[in-house]
Amino acid sequence: MAKTEKDGKSRRELITLGSAFGLMGLAAAGTGGALFKYMFPVVSYGTPQKFLIPLDDLPDVGDELIFDDMKVVLRRQTETEVAAISLVCTHLGCTVNRVETGFQCPCHGSQYDSDGLVVGGPAPKTLPWLEIKNVPGGQIEVDTGTSMPEGTFYAVV
Ligand code: FES
Repeated sequence: MAKTEKDGKSRRELITLGSAFGLMGLAAAGTGGALFKYMFPVVSYGTPQKFLIPLDDLPDVGDELIFDDMKVVLRRQTETEVAAISLVCTHLGCTVNRVETGFQCPCHGSQYDSDGLVVGGPAPKTLPWLEIKNVPGGQIEVDTGTSMPEGTFYAVV
């Protein structure tokens, strides 16, 4: 059997050893890739949409109104200040439920406080706060495709 001059191992042994390390490297890369993908999922949250809410339909001061179809909760802080928070979980896009302590995702258990900050589970970031504009005709427009800094309230006129 042929031996290499350096360490005395046969060529066949070196090829076998090299192949084994190569396969282990591929397996590790595949596992690492899957873990990385789980940590940073590629999620499509659907087509961003704008929708109108008549000022007469705003919730009472200190109250909230949930728009199930649009997956948005509208919060009224004062007589003239409102905010909109997305109900789309930042993990994989399920719709979160409003609970006493904040928001809870039914899919994988992510938990958010009442401002949408992550307090548990796999969600990678805060529930988006959404842009609101005053529009003619005594209405506001909520844009589910435009995120604003957390805590952004808008003056309604
Ligand atoms: S979609 Fe996974 S925790 Fe919400």
